[in-house]
Amino acid sequence: MDSRAFLLLLSIVIHISSLLSDSSLKEGSSLSVNDVLESPTGVFSAGFYPVGDNAYCFAIWFTEPSCSRDHDCTTVWMANRDFPVNGIRSKLWLQKTGNLVLTDAGKYIAWSTDTVSPSSTDLILYDTGNLVLQNVEGVILWQSFDSPTNTLLPSQRFTKDMQLVSSRSRTNFSSGFYKLFFNNDNLLRLLYDDSKVTSIYWPTPWLVSFATKRFPYNSSRLACLDTLGKFTSSDNFSFVSADYGVRLQRRLTIDFDGNLRLYSRKKDNNATWVVSWQALSQSCEIHGACGPYSICSHNPISGRRCSCLPGYQVKNANDWSSGCEPKFSISCDNDTDQARFIRLPRVEFYGYDYKVYPGYTLDMCRKLCLSSCGCKGFQYRYVGDGLWPQISLLNNMKTTVIPTLCFPKMLLLNGQRSPNLDGQFYLKVPRTSLFSDKDDYSGFGLNCSIELLRPPDRAYPKSSQNDKSQLMLWFACALGAVEIIGILLVWCFLFSSEKDLNEASQGYLHPAITGFKRFTYSELKKATGNFRVEIGRGAGGTVYKGTLPDNRIAAIKRLNIANQGEAEFLTEVSTIGKINHMNLIEMWGYCAERKHRLLVYEYMEHGSLAEKLSSRAVDWRKRFHIALGTAKGLAYLHEECLEWVLHCDVKPQNILLDSNYQPKVSDFGLAKLRNRLGDDLKYSRFSRIRGTRGYMAPEWVFNLPITSKVDVYSYGIVMLEMVTGKSPAMGGTSNSGEGKELERGLVTWVRQNKKNGGESWIEEIVDPILEGDYDEGEMEILVMLALQCVEEDKDARPTMSKVVEILLHRKQYL
Ligand SMILES: *[C@@H]1O[C@H](CO)[C@@H](O)[C@H](O)[C@H]1NC(C)=O
Ligand SMILES: *[C@@H]1O[C@H](CO)[C@@H](O)[C@H](O)[C@H]1NC(C)=O
Ligand SMILES: *[C@@H]1O[C@H](CO)[C@@H](O)[C@H](O)[C@H]1NC(C)=O
Ligand SMILES: *[C@@H]1O[C@H](CO)[C@@H](O)[C@H](O)[C@H]1NC(C)=O
Ligand SMILES: *[C@@H]1O[C@H](CO)[C@@H](O)[C@H](O)[C@H]1NC(C)=O
Ligand SMILES: *[C@@H]1O[C@H](CO)[C@@H](O)[C@H](O)[C@H]1NC(C)=O
Repeated sequence: MDSRAFLLLLSIVIHISSLLSDSSLKEGSSLSVNDVLESPTGVFSAGFYPVGDNAYCFAIWFTEPSCSRDHDCTTVWMANRDFPVNGIRSKLWLQKTGNLVLTDAGKYIAWSTDTVSPSSTDLILYDTGNLVLQNVEGVILWQSFDSPTNTLLPSQRFTKDMQLVSSRSRTNFSSGFYKLFFNNDNLLRLLYDDSKVTSIYWPTPWLVSFATKRFPYNSSRLACLDTLGKFTSSDNFSFVSADYGVRLQRRLTIDFDGNLRLYSRKKDNNATWVVSWQALSQSCEIHGACGPYSICSHNPISGRRCSCLPGYQVKNANDWSSGCEPKFSISCDNDTDQARFIRLPRVEFYGYDYKVYPGYTLDMCRKLCLSSCGCKGFQYRYVGDGLWPQISLLNNMKTTVIPTLCFPKMLLLNGQRSPNLDGQFYLKVPRTSLFSDKDDYSGFGLNCSIELLRPPDRAYPKSSQNDKSQLMLWFACALGAVEIIGILLVWCFLFSSEKDLNEASQGYLHPAITGFKRFTYSELKKATGNFRVEIGRGAGGTVYKGTLPDNRIAAIKRLNIANQGEAEFLTEVSTIGKINHMNLIEMWGYCAERKHRLLVYEYMEHGSLAEKLSSRAVDWRKRFHIALGTAKGLAYLHEECLEWVLHCDVKPQNILLDSNYQPKVSDFGLAKLRNRLGDDLKYSRFSRIRGTRGYMAPEWVFNLPITSKVDVYSYGIVMLEMVTGKSPAMGGTSNSGEGKELERGLVTWVRQNKKNGGESWIEEIVDPILEGDYDEGEMEILVMLALQCVEEDKDARPTMSKVVEILLHRKQYL
């Protein structure tokens, strides 16, 4: 027998032996591209996974529920993600010496474990998803659990020297830019790292570790996910999944978009992965998404989108991470007349400040940036009155100096635009250029949303810092290097504010994170004195005033939805509970016990706008701020929430006023709650008409698709009502057309006045209770805007964030 025939025979024997022993590979044998190892019960498989045209990586993937290796399996580990091998003659070979080697086309070594063992070894795939190289004595020489790629499986320990690294894209499995690892400060962090820029984005980088509730002094650096869905880490970070307690398939993956998500899946055949926790709920907070000189904004459909700054153009439209480049150049000689600034409202760039300059006027800040050649623009913002004394104290300044912060930037990275940002960004462009903020820098949708991202449930953690502490910390971070005292002050500040939070949150869902409590029915019964004081009543239920055990006064809503599963209810409630905005009512907790379903909200001293409209207490100034605040709240709901929440019942009864007459929109999310529970309907289409007569958009009547524009319509009606003091049904024209279609009396009346009234038409319609005491310019803007909001054609109505923008920058429109 010649040697070639012998080798052939040998390879056949090896092949057969590998097929016989399904879950393990014996010493001296090898796996070729078509061979697969299967764990004993078939949950996981290991083999060559196709990653491109005739390109394979040696990988481990989930095989139960079944999937086809050619496209849709979920891989959990890869040996050679950055060095795919050829589909022909590549193999994984367990050598007699104990070394496990992956060869490419029989020539190159693509990957190896570099292990040596005198005794014989086996490669075994376990049902945990761990691929283990062990010798006959059971000593582990190597295991895949020690070198994770982008996924951590239950019972896999995540330690000091490990990192999870994202894939490059949805379809490209090679190493991407996002990493989860234990930093030198012993904290588990997420990092963006391309070849030029590295920046940490989770936990929120400008928060000190106390604020993030992390513990930096445990150097064991160990984290682990258990099979029931609880994750714990030695830095005291922990979370439980929304479906905690159930035995499901689970994986913690750092996705290619930079978010860390826990997924779970039932073992049914058609089951899909659902997100049961994620690290960041606002995708624009993930650094690097849009690259330098571009702005990330939230998009309800694709998740987020990138756009170039005015005067900049995209470098590579297929890969936004390389960002944008200028279409201009500004020469650097001493001539400060070369440049000017474009103001970009509600835009913020994180990091890369030269320094922070407190107390600078806009003009001083502008000059500072002009005089420095490398300055690309500056962030400028006012500081709340409450914080300024501390800041000025830290900087030895008189408190009479204007309370502002000026941040000149050397590089523009991590840009965000959001209706909630109050600061302004000023972009430096050549003086002679024609670019303006009116330039369409709308950009392109970045297709980075994970399809599974809109799960039916989930309590995502929501860092509940308020604007004030955030600003304070941001400020402190910027000054941190210089001002140690600053950090201390911040720490005190936070410490005091977080204490209340802690006490209120020893409940059921992530106590540490959501600040959200589960109440028992008897607690709420006691709090409301057996539901004695009724303060409101609506379609969803009745609201009672109550005093919680910690003496906080609350509004407790008893829902009339009885026969509904607890899990479903929790799911919805936790979605609502994570929404946090100064113009949205805050939910403190809930109760789900037997038939009872209750929601616990903060109590609003001044009741609803409906009660106050006919009173002199709300003068013009207050009315205007109610208009603005309500718009901000709705804009946040429409554009910033993880799930796209419509309100669907905007009316004066649902706009509540706090002790400062600051408006807060209430009852949001409930439309969906009722909808889900009532009849099982599609997401964007509701069959039953909801909302309140007089405030409902024509879409409801004509059975057109329901979008966020229905809220814009209702908002317009409320504004007209607030300006005129007349309710939507009455207003001069026929009050008898009831039942015809919609009662558009008020709108028609205002439009007719505008058409026929000549110069003073505004005076004609304004609520007489104001006694002429209002700002004419502002009034006109508000009325015009309200009329635009109530256009029949939904596309002619502005978005809520446009409304906010116009109201905020009304001076420009006067
Ligand atoms: C995946 O991305 C890497 C890094 O950008 C690139 O070198 C490689 O060619 C890509 N692979 C495929 C199959 O597109
Ligand atoms: C550090 O973390 C480990 C693992 O979580 C834990 O067992 C240990 O008790 C912690 N040590 C301290 C001092 O907190
Ligand atoms: C860790 O967190 C728990 C509860 O979240 C808290 O009781 C404990 O004091 C924390 N430990 C440290 C060292 O911060
Ligand atoms: C899976 O889905 C297919 C079609 O969508 C359906 O025919 C089949 O019955 C489903 N199987 C299970 C187990 O639900
Ligand atoms: C995003 O990409 C996926 C797959 O490439 C595609 O199915 C989906 O329709 C895209 N979504 C958008 C909004 O473009
Ligand atoms: C710019 O002007 C400053 C003073 O106004 C001067 O000190 C400096 O030398 C000038 N630099 C150049 C490059 O002309």
